[in-house]
Amino acid sequence: MVSAGIRNLWMAHAEELGVAYADAASPIRFHLVTRALLDHLPRRARRVADIGGGYGRQAILLARSGRSVAVLDPDKHMLELVRASLETEDLAVRGRVALVEGYGENASRLLKGRFDLVCCHSVVMYVEKIRPLLLSLSNITSPKGLISILTINPASVAMREGLQGRWKEAATLIRNPAYTASRYIPNRKHRIHSIREAMRKLSFELVAWYGVGVFTDHLSTFDRSELEEICELEWLAGLSDPYRSVARMAHLVFKRRPA
Ligand SMILES: C[S@@+](CC[C@H](N)C(=O)[O-])C[C@H]1O[C@@H](n2cnc3c(N)ncnc32)[C@H](O)[C@@H]1O
Repeated sequence: MVSAGIRNLWMAHAEELGVAYADAASPIRFHLVTRALLDHLPRRARRVADIGGGYGRQAILLARSGRSVAVLDPDKHMLELVRASLETEDLAVRGRVALVEGYGENASRLLKGRFDLVCCHSVVMYVEKIRPLLLSLSNITSPKGLISILTINPASVAMREGLQGRWKEAATLIRNPAYTASRYIPNRKHRIHSIREAMRKLSFELVAWYGVGVFTDHLSTFDRSELEEICELEWLAGLSDPYRSVARMAHLVFKRRPA
């Protein structure tokens, strides 16, 4: 079911779930994004909203750090996956995660109060019009709160296919960044500049940005015993130019401009 006016490419392709997202490098991505968030979040910041938080991995990592996390997602199937992942967590973590069904665009109607951190990770690329979603994120963010957006960087989108040796597809992506290979869910590659500009109009400024998965985003497997060294390398690369600019994924952290 897609709500009137909100075209959601993810749910329109729900049957392909799992195929596109069975991504070997995701523990690295979650480690990096969580590290960045914990660096920015003051200790007293307790309330987190994870918009489009299906799978629940980010919510669980933040709940383990003592935060209360409201996961809002329009897809019942995704919320079921969060529920299943929570079953293996201890009671305190489970008690800190609340699941709410609905669209991010309707967040202020569906979630109570404002949040110290509003995450929206790997969601904007499945939404055709980003402005209503970004407005909604800004409406539920507390005055000193942060908004965290993880998205595809269209400027370097050919990196995954190129490093995987998919030569023709990489060339196609450089010519036309909007192209999506048939094995992936169709997506909208909103430009980082457009996201920043839309956030600026909502009085939010970029306080930090990171490239995510510079050296590993394309891998279908890696040696888990090396996770710590890989994460440290990726952290450094994700912070430094020119490496971060060539990552296919960008993590953007915004805060409200002082009045
Ligand atoms: C690729 S998954 C990302 C899940 C999670 N945020 C993560 O990073 O692992 C995309 C999620 O966005 C959700 N979604 C798509 N459109 C949405 C919208 N308009 N509002 C809120 N969630 C949405 C989907 O249901 C799905 O759970």
